[in-house]
Amino acid sequence: MAKFNLKPLKKQAQKDLNSVKDLKELDEIFKRYLGKKGKLTQVLRSLEKLPKAKRVKIGKEANQLKNFLGIKVNQKVEDLKEKVRKKTEEREWIDVTQPGKKPVLGHLHPLTLVKRKTEENFQAIGFSVVEGPEMEKEWYNFDALNIPKDHPARDLWDTFYLKNGLLLRTHTSPVQIRFMENNNPPLRIIIPGRIFRHEATDASHEINFYQVEGLMVGKDVSAANFKAIIQEFFNRFFEKPIKIRIRPSYFPFTEPSFEVDMICLNCGGKGCSACQQTGWLEMMGAGMVHPNVLKNSGLNPKNWQGFAFGMGLDRLAMMKYKINDIRLFYSGDLRFLNQF
Ligand code: PHE
Repeated sequence: MAKFNLKPLKKQAQKDLNSVKDLKELDEIFKRYLGKKGKLTQVLRSLEKLPKAKRVKIGKEANQLKNFLGIKVNQKVEDLKEKVRKKTEEREWIDVTQPGKKPVLGHLHPLTLVKRKTEENFQAIGFSVVEGPEMEKEWYNFDALNIPKDHPARDLWDTFYLKNGLLLRTHTSPVQIRFMENNNPPLRIIIPGRIFRHEATDASHEINFYQVEGLMVGKDVSAANFKAIIQEFFNRFFEKPIKIRIRPSYFPFTEPSFEVDMICLNCGGKGCSACQQTGWLEMMGAGMVHPNVLKNSGLNPKNWQGFAFGMGLDRLAMMKYKINDIRLFYSGDLRFLNQF
């Protein structure tokens, strides 16, 4: 038989509630008083067995206590939740005013930048960009360019020969033939690309590097056109007037042949270590396309004429960014690359 003196029950319940530390404990206390077999529940259940007068009196008190405890428990729940929230807030505090961390972004290789700028500048004056294979047939790399098998001029290009009968192209000139085989003049193209030479490396030589070939063929394309176009290109590329000079030279696939130098931007032409004290830097080989080259491409040299050039892209980059060793481009050294 449950006791009907509710005062000690209320006192005990209040004490329990005051000392509660977390929601789990609170749940236990709730069950202890108001659960199925809770102390107060038992009182309420046994009311029916009481005589009427007592039943009314104790029933009222018990219900009041039940409401009272209900309110207290709810309050406690809120208190405990607030406590938990505050603790999490302290632990997971974020300063939304703090400036963010910038993610490290990748960037383009200096040679890619120079290649793109070269393409843009030539496109602006009517040239299209064309590509060709790095693994090449001997015919395109040499024979079709008017360099027969046992001609001593072949020695100009130290060649990597492959086991499959092909070779690694030693210049971008073979793409001249490939293009003219399939396209009729008038034509104006540049051919940027990677080339390979079996050479000892030093500050100005690598076994692979990049060239931009140029080719313009028409009815009356002249050396004067070449000079004007190449001057225009240098001015655009370096964004200021650039002094150039054209010297006579020799290539089997051009006649006459030239070499183009630009003034050394490092010393302004006075002479320094970058230009071997000459004040000039050799930038490209060039010339008027040899009649045999036109013939080998299926064109009649009586109808067509033009110029071709082959420019060192790495040289261009070295001048633009004042870099004194070509090997840096291929070193993969991030201390170097991160500067661009
Ligand atoms: N192909 C030559 C070289 O690699 C350069 C060149 C291209 C010269 C076109 C004349 C005409 O040295």
